[in-house]
Amino acid sequence: MGYQEYPKTLPRDDFWGRCVAPLWGDASAKRKWLLVDHIREQLRLRPGDILLDIGCGNGALAPKLFDDCAGYAGVDLSPYLIEVAQEFFADPPNYLFFNSDAAEFVEFVDEPDRFTRGLCLLPFNIYPRKR
Ligand SMILES: C[S@@+](CC[C@H](N)C(=O)[O-])C[C@H]1O[C@@H](n2cnc3c(N)ncnc32)[C@H](O)[C@@H]1O
Repeated sequence: MGYQEYPKTLPRDDFWGRCVAPLWGDASAKRKWLLVDHIREQLRLRPGDILLDIGCGNGALAPKLFDDCAGYAGVDLSPYLIEVAQEFFADPPNYLFFNSDAAEFVEFVDEPDRFTRGLCLLPFNIYPRKR
């Protein structure tokens, strides 16, 4: 079952089981916080940063990053996951979620240059393997 259909088999508010669990093996609190800490460390967000989160899924990670940046846009292909993100995690006007292919989003969004940081946490198996 792919990442588009798998989340629909879980409770709507099982935020961490949906995307993070398949990626990390389980969704224990320890793993969850290790992941958040690691992402924050790598991103090195500054207070004025505007973050683009490509493949943001249900947006569960986003509120952990909101305090570190001035703006956030999460983009995901899945209409279902974006619906959940908008319901539970959006904080307009600066912290928003969009249902789109990421490549199309950056082509058509107003002022793409305003994004100063990018995050892309995707499963390895979506990339073609080298033979
Ligand atoms: C493993 S989930 C990660 C979700 C989120 N980053 C997290 O850590 O919880 C990968 C997500 O990437 C999205 N995705 C895959 N290809 C995409 C694309 N071309 N544009 C936007 N989103 C994409 C999927 O719909 C899925 O929600």
